Amino acid sequence: MEWGMKNRLSRLIQKDGKALFLPVDHGYFQGPTHCLEKPGETIKPLMQYADALMLTRGVLRNCVDPATEKPVIMRVSGAVSVVGEDLANESVVTSIQEIIRLNASAVSMSVFVGSKYENKSLTNLSKLVDECEDYGVPVMAVCAVGKELEKREARYLALSARIAAEIGARVVKTYYCKENFEKVVEGCPVPIVIAGGPKAETQREVFDFVYDGMQKGAIGVNLGRNIWQTEYPVASIRAIRAIIHEGYTAKEAEDLYNQVRNLKA
Ligand code: 5RP
Repeated sequence: MEWGMKNRLSRLIQKDGKALFLPVDHGYFQGPTHCLEKPGETIKPLMQYADALMLTRGVLRNCVDPATEKPVIMRVSGAVSVVGEDLANESVVTSIQEIIRLNASAVSMSVFVGSKYENKSLTNLSKLVDECEDYGVPVMAVCAVGKELEKREARYLALSARIAAEIGARVVKTYYCKENFEKVVEGCPVPIVIAGGPKAETQREVFDFVYDGMQKGAIGVNLGRNIWQTEYPVASIRAIRAIIHEGYTAKEAEDLYNQVRNLKA
């Protein structure tokens, strides 16, 4: 692997082999998402606990201090919306020149395996990988399900994650599933990070799935709404960070969450 690619990956995946990515890219298809109306304010107290931010170029340019040392994973797919015909019909919306100019440590794009636009999104991924590899920029594939949340089961996730890795993604983001998540990880030759999906009913549920996902081989998370849409986002990210980087169990993370939450109360 080339020095540039290694260097960028090592900014994202920490020395312990683990990673906590904080995505705030949801506006690219949802508009001003709840609790992300002002992304700069949302991320301000959370950034220090994240290993990288995932966002679009628009939010990066307008809401993040250019003096930051936090690595950036730039979402480069889009041109769809929640009110449009099909979320899977994405294009790549950011050039390689812009990716380099904005000093991204990686880029991310969604793939929609099994959708009407499967071939388009996978072809987009292959072209993006070709361009980014020329410049040593890792691509993180986001295995997306659009509005079909019921697709989040092991056979589908394993299929989607494997295909994304075969096409050349250096990291794959997929959902967690309770049954057979280890099969998703085992079938994917590149590191896997877990997305959270819509906000869970309780924080403990989140700590449970992050802990279980890590036990089953994920290297970390790319978790948004279950951090910044919660009542105590700082307590939430600190507890999740403790699971990922300090080996906390879900119960220990919950205790930490309650401690930090009470400090703030
Ligand atoms: C949204 C994304 C998000 O980055 C990803 O889904 C993780 O966020 P969340 O934990 O809120 O699901 O790709 O387009």
